[in-house]
Amino acid sequence: MSNILSLAKSYEKYFKIGAAVAAHNIESYEDVLREHFNSVTPENEMKYSETEPEEGRFTFERTDKIFSTARKLGIKVRAHAPVWHNQTGGWMYKDGDHDASPELIYQRIDAHIKALCERYNDDVYAWDVVNEAVTDEVEDGAQGDAAIYRSSEYFKLCGADFITAAFRAMDKYSPNAQLFYNDYNECDPKKRERIVRLIKRLKEQGCRIDGMGMQQHYFSCPDYDELKRSIEVYAQLGLRLHITELDVSIMAGFGHNVFPPSEEDIKRLKASSPEDIARVEDIYLKLFEIYRSYSDVIDCVTTWGVADDYTWMDGFVPHDNAPVVKQYPLLFDIHHAPKACVEKLINAAK
Ligand code: GLA
Repeated sequence: MSNILSLAKSYEKYFKIGAAVAAHNIESYEDVLREHFNSVTPENEMKYSETEPEEGRFTFERTDKIFSTARKLGIKVRAHAPVWHNQTGGWMYKDGDHDASPELIYQRIDAHIKALCERYNDDVYAWDVVNEAVTDEVEDGAQGDAAIYRSSEYFKLCGADFITAAFRAMDKYSPNAQLFYNDYNECDPKKRERIVRLIKRLKEQGCRIDGMGMQQHYFSCPDYDELKRSIEVYAQLGLRLHITELDVSIMAGFGHNVFPPSEEDIKRLKASSPEDIARVEDIYLKLFEIYRSYSDVIDCVTTWGVADDYTWMDGFVPHDNAPVVKQYPLLFDIHHAPKACVEKLINAAK
C-alpha cells in the first residue's frame, strides 16, 4: 500500500467515494477498497439475469459474495439496476406463447424486488431502481411518450408504467434506502429534458424518487458547462445526485467530440501515447473540481471499476470504427496503486 492518505476519508466532507465491483475478482481489491472507498456497487450481480434467470428461481451466490465482502470491509452498498432493458431474461415479457400483460410484468417486478430487498436491505443505502429507460434518439414522427422513452420490451408492453411499478415496489420493500433513476448521456441537453419529464411524471404520480444517478461514462471530451447545468437542472427537481458509473476513455482526452471518430482519432487511439493516457487524469481533476463545487447536492461519486486491470471499457467499442485498445479509465493503475492524480485529488480536498 502506498503511504498517501485515504481518498474516501479525505472526501468525507464532500461525498462518498464508490466503485463498481465484481464477484469474480473482488478479493483482489480488498486492500484498495478498505483504504480508499466507502461505497460499492455490484457491477452485474444484482441484475435480473444474474439473480432470477428463470421466473421464481433465484440465484444469489455471486451477489452474496459481494455483500459478504462489503460487510467485512464495513462498506454499504449502492444496489444497481433491477429494472433495465438489458440483462433481463426473455421470460419477463412472455406468458406462454403470448406477450405478458402489464399486470403480469408488474407482479414479476414486485416479486423480484421483494426477494432482493428481503435478502439485502440491511446493507443497501441506495438503489438504482430503473436504469436507462429514456431514448437517445427520437425517431421520425414519434410523439408523446414514444418521444421520451426507449422502445424497450418493457415500454412496448406496458408504456411508461413499468417505471412507476418498479418505484412503487421498491418503496414498499425498501422504505429506508434512497431510490434513484439512473442513465447515461444524462448531460446531453435533449436527453436531459426527456429524463426530467420521466422524473416529473413519477413525482406527479406520487412515487418516491430521491435521486438522479448520473452515469458519467466519458468517451468524448466532457462538456464541463453542460455538466454543471445538468447538475443544477436535476438538483432543482429536489433530487440528491450520485455520480454512478464514472470512467474516462483515452478518447476523452482528445479535446473534442469523437463521434464519429475521424481517421486521425482512430490513429491516435491505436497509438495510445503516454501523454494521451495521462490526459485521463487531468479530466478526473477537472471533473472532481466540479463535483466538489456541487457537494451540497452530490452525495456519492462512484467509478465504474476499481483499477485499470479490470474495466468494461477494454472490451467495449463505442463506435463501429473505433478499435478495441487497452484503456486506463480509473483512478488506480493495473497494479492497484493510486495514480498521481489521486494524491492531487486528496490535496484539493483539504
Ligand atoms: C451501463 C449499465 C451498467 C454497466 C455499464 C457497462 O451503463 O448501467 O450496469 O452494464 O453499462 O458495463
